[in-house]
Amino acid sequence: MPLGARPPVLAISLIFTSSLFGQAANFQDTKSAAATESKQARPDGTAPRLTSFTADMIEQGKHSVNAFCGRCHGRDGRGAKGPDLTDGIYLRGPMTDQEIVDIIANGRSGTGMIGFGADYEDYYLPVVAYIRAEEAKAKGKPQGPKGDIARGEAIYKKQQCGGCHWLNRSGGRLGTDLTHLAATANFVRQKILSPDQEIDRLHQKVVLLHSNDQVTTGKRLRETEHDILIIDDQENLRSIRKSDLEGVRYSSKSIMPSYKDALSQQEIEDLTAYLVSLQQKPAQ
Ligand code: HEC
Ligand code: HEC
Repeated sequence: MPLGARPPVLAISLIFTSSLFGQAANFQDTKSAAATESKQARPDGTAPRLTSFTADMIEQGKHSVNAFCGRCHGRDGRGAKGPDLTDGIYLRGPMTDQEIVDIIANGRSGTGMIGFGADYEDYYLPVVAYIRAEEAKAKGKPQGPKGDIARGEAIYKKQQCGGCHWLNRSGGRLGTDLTHLAATANFVRQKILSPDQEIDRLHQKVVLLHSNDQVTTGKRLRETEHDILIIDDQENLRSIRKSDLEGVRYSSKSIMPSYKDALSQQEIEDLTAYLVSLQQKPAQ
C-alpha cells in the first residue's frame, strides 16, 4: 500500500520513524550483507544470524535504542519498566535475530511492547547488532536480585499488595497487573521504595474538581470528548460528565504508597526477588 493511502497520522509517524531510524544508518550496506549470509541453521543448532554485524552497525543500533526504546527499556537498553535487552535473558526464552526484528516491527500483543511498523524492517538490523554485542559481553556475569523468593511471597501477602495489584488470578484493580510484569529488579526495587519517581501514565492518579467544589480521586480508565471513566479509591467505576467538572489534574504522586519505612532492606530484596521470579515462568 502506498504511504499516501494510509490515514494521515499513521503516515506521519511512519515517515518520522523511518527518517530517524534511517538517519544514522547506511542501510544499503546492511541489506546486501544480509543477502550474502545463508539463513540455514548452524551446525551447532543455534539459530542463524541474519547478517554479520559490523562495528558501525552496533554503534548505529545503540543510538536507535536510546532514541526509540529508552523510555521503556532504559538508557542503552539496560532495562527499566521494560526488560533489559542487553543481558541475554528473554522473558519467553531465547529469541532469534528474526524474532527480534519481528517484535520491533509488530510489538507483542497484550503487553506494553509497541510495534514500530513492518515497512522498515531493515532499519532494525543495527538494533539487533547492538543487542547481540551487549549480550556477548554480559555472558558469565552474575544476574538478578539476591532475595529469597518464598519470603518475598509471604511479604507480598502480609503487606496486602494484592489489595491493589492483580496477580495469580486475584487482587485489586487500582494497581497494575503484576502477572505481566516485565520490569527489571532495579525498577521494581525503586517502585517499592519511591513510587513517585517514575509513574506509569496509564495508571496515573487523577484529581477531578467538580463544579460544586467536591473532589474525586482515582485512576483514569477511559476518556471521551464528553466523559471521563475512572475507578475511584474505593474501586467503584464512575463515569463523570466533563461539563460537570471545573478541572482535571494529574497527580505527581503515585497511587502506590512507599514502603521505605515499612520494610527492611532485606525484605525489599526478598519482595523484588519474588516479583522478578514470576517472569521466569513460561507464558500462559
Ligand atoms: C512503550 C514501551 C516500549 C517501547 C517504546 C519499546 N518496548 Fe520493547 N518491550 C516493552 C515491554 C513492556 C516488553 C515486555 C513484553 C512482555 O511482557 O512480554 C518489551 C519486550 C521487548 C523485547 C522482548 C524481550 C523479552 O525478554 O522477551 C524486545 C526484543 C524488545 N522489547 C525490543 C525493543 C526495541 C528494540 C525497542 C525500540 C526500537 C523497543 N522494544 C521499544 C516495552 C517497550
Ligand atoms: C494503593 C494501591 C497500591 C498498593 C497497596 C500497592 N501498589 Fe504497586 N502500584 C500501584 C499503582 C497504581 C501502580 C502503577 C502506577 C505507578 O506507576 O505509580 C503500581 C505499580 C507497581 C509496580 C510497577 C508495575 C509495572 O507494571 O511496571 C510494582 C512492581 C509494584 N507496584 C509493586 C507493589 C508491591 C510489591 C506492593 C506491596 C508491597 C504494592 N505494589 C502495593 C498501586 C499500589
